[in-house]
Amino acid sequence: MADSDAQKPKPVTTGDFTAMKERGEKIAMLTCYDYLFARILTEAGVDAVLVGDSLGHVVLGYDSTLPVTLDDIIHHAAAVRRGLHGPLLVVDMPFMTYQVSNEDALRNAGRVMKETGAEAVKVEGGDDATLDRVRALVGAGIPVMGHLGLTPQSVHQLGGYSLQGRDPDEADRLLREACALEDAGCFSMVLEMIPVPLAGEVTRAVGIPTVGIGAGPECDGQVLVLPDMLGLNPAFNPRFLRRFARLGDAARSGVKEYVEAVRNGDYPSEDESYEA
Ligand code: KIV
Repeated sequence: MADSDAQKPKPVTTGDFTAMKERGEKIAMLTCYDYLFARILTEAGVDAVLVGDSLGHVVLGYDSTLPVTLDDIIHHAAAVRRGLHGPLLVVDMPFMTYQVSNEDALRNAGRVMKETGAEAVKVEGGDDATLDRVRALVGAGIPVMGHLGLTPQSVHQLGGYSLQGRDPDEADRLLREACALEDAGCFSMVLEMIPVPLAGEVTRAVGIPTVGIGAGPECDGQVLVLPDMLGLNPAFNPRFLRRFARLGDAARSGVKEYVEAVRNGDYPSEDESYEA
């Protein structure tokens, strides 16, 4: 082993995910979209990072995830890869990059894996077509994370970003789909915006880890959208969101201070300038 290898953190694998569930260790996952935050997430010791298609909302300014393209996600995931050393890197397959056919899914997920260095991809849904895609991807050696409950790529079908799995039929379907995703080969799945008892039932029913967002404490792990949990997005206030920092306030006051310092001639000072 080279010296530089000895200093690198041991990479988290999809196998580690399952082992963590078996040991009852919670998985801490966050989204990320750029190099500098990837370095911060590495230093802070998260277990896994998702380059989510929430990119559309929090970076690109769209009002849904639907416009996000394969090139968008590859561009951002490659930047994250350059700053991330250790945590498992999962990349979202954007809307319509896997829904049409297994061939499309394989070609597009293949690009994600080759061009970003990701260790896994994530797809939304648990219907027969999605299960078929999961089997095809896993068969090609591409680890897949599932995503059930609120699946934002289906926002227009769902009628909004609301709690899912409330009525018993819907809850039964979600439980069946979770088991089917495990059978199809998913190594893990996100459960988004579902009631605590259903999330607990799914988590106990499957051998792979569940990672919740708005799905309560019984999931095997949690994921949050990084700019939301760092307080950069004050307009987004769902019940499940805890803000762990106030970066929006800090950034605003820093920028205001800069503007004032430039306008009143305080910046740059002599110490901040170069002699000939
Ligand atoms: O796109 C995303 O960030 C996600 C998470 C909310 C799980 O899918």
